[in-house]
Amino acid sequence: MTVDVYWRIGMGGDHASLRTPKVRNRGDWGGVGPGNLAPAVRNGQSDGYAYIDHAAAVARASEAAGFLGGLLPSFPGTEDPWALSAALARETTSYRFMVAFQPGFLNPLQAARMSASLQRATGGRLVYNIISGGGGPAQLWWGDQVAHDDRYARTSEFLEVLKGVWQGEPYDFDGRFFRTGGAALPPRLAGEPFPEIYFSGSSAAAVNAAGLHADYYLSWLEPFADLERKFAGVREHAAKLGRVPKFAVRIDVLARHTEEAAWAEIEKGWQYVDPAVATRQAQGDSVGAGRIKGWVPATITGYRDVEVQPNVWAGFSLLRGGPAFGLVGSYEQVAQRLDELLDLGVDAFILAGNPHLEEAYRVGEEVLPLLGRARFTRPVPARETVSTR
Ligand SMILES: Cc1cc2nc3c(=O)[nH]c(=O)nc-3n(C[C@H](O)[C@H](O)[C@H](O)COP(=O)(O)O)c2cc1C
Repeated sequence: MTVDVYWRIGMGGDHASLRTPKVRNRGDWGGVGPGNLAPAVRNGQSDGYAYIDHAAAVARASEAAGFLGGLLPSFPGTEDPWALSAALARETTSYRFMVAFQPGFLNPLQAARMSASLQRATGGRLVYNIISGGGGPAQLWWGDQVAHDDRYARTSEFLEVLKGVWQGEPYDFDGRFFRTGGAALPPRLAGEPFPEIYFSGSSAAAVNAAGLHADYYLSWLEPFADLERKFAGVREHAAKLGRVPKFAVRIDVLARHTEEAAWAEIEKGWQYVDPAVATRQAQGDSVGAGRIKGWVPATITGYRDVEVQPNVWAGFSLLRGGPAFGLVGSYEQVAQRLDELLDLGVDAFILAGNPHLEEAYRVGEEVLPLLGRARFTRPVPARETVSTR
């Protein structure tokens, strides 16, 4: 059994620890001031470093620490993952770039050409994280008024066209959302490998579309029994279509030498949690976000209230936004929980931690070697895969 292990690249700055969640002092996202990195201020002047320099440091650190690649998330308030991955590819050797994007905001021909060019330039290191949108203000930001289930219909069409034009033969398509006539990638681009598809979404519409297109069905972490049921549903649906998806889970990790030390870190961050935020309703129409809300008790009196099973903690969103669930514990405990997920049929992890730079080293050095059940997928340096045509 092999497992693909990715790290998240923060796309909107970073903070030095969970103690300082409101100050993004890594990168120029939180303003430029004393104590900042990239850029740092020396004698009242910026030292000339920019966010790309910090992101490059995280990519290089996580590559060196044994991660296969990085997830580059996409939200209205972040950098653009396509642009950053092209820049970061030159900073790394074998590191893969899992670019999050919403089909529908890109013309599929443009997406195909951009993807194939990236594949050619990087030696096949592009991976897709197909996100179909969670509604609410984020969708409006894009000017998108397409209803929840129709967004998945649009995603399906988009991927059909993308795969259609990739072959390099003239391709016609006349659908509900997209149309193309005689389109094809030029021969040099059409021979590039089609990127692996990680596909997320918890609704029935998402599971339908994932059945058609996902190489990996991707979920946030949930209590393990729920995750197992969710995967069984996806597997069953895909089997009806004659497909066998793999499974991936995105997990925040806070691991320390001892369990007590890990919880002590959480406790430091917890002091800054606003109880009003802790009970806030999920915005938008995301079924996945709604599921997560269901596991958080109505009244939270302390951080251990949201430990839903040993080492599985649902409070990360309260500390720094983003998904709620992650693993908290000693290096051994976290590795054991990851092993249990592999036993449930997980094939890939996207791990994350703040600060991204130091935690990439820590997780790579202290946790990944303790995983007992899997061998890691060997990264292929770009120079071994670069197209010779
Ligand atoms: C692991 C994971 C990563 C995601 N990353 C993003 C992202 O970067 N940007 C975004 O807008 N939505 C992201 N999403 C949201 C989903 O793609 C999807 O839009 C949302 O779950 C709503 O779908 P649903 O109602 O079918 O659950 C992510 C979801 C998962 C599970």
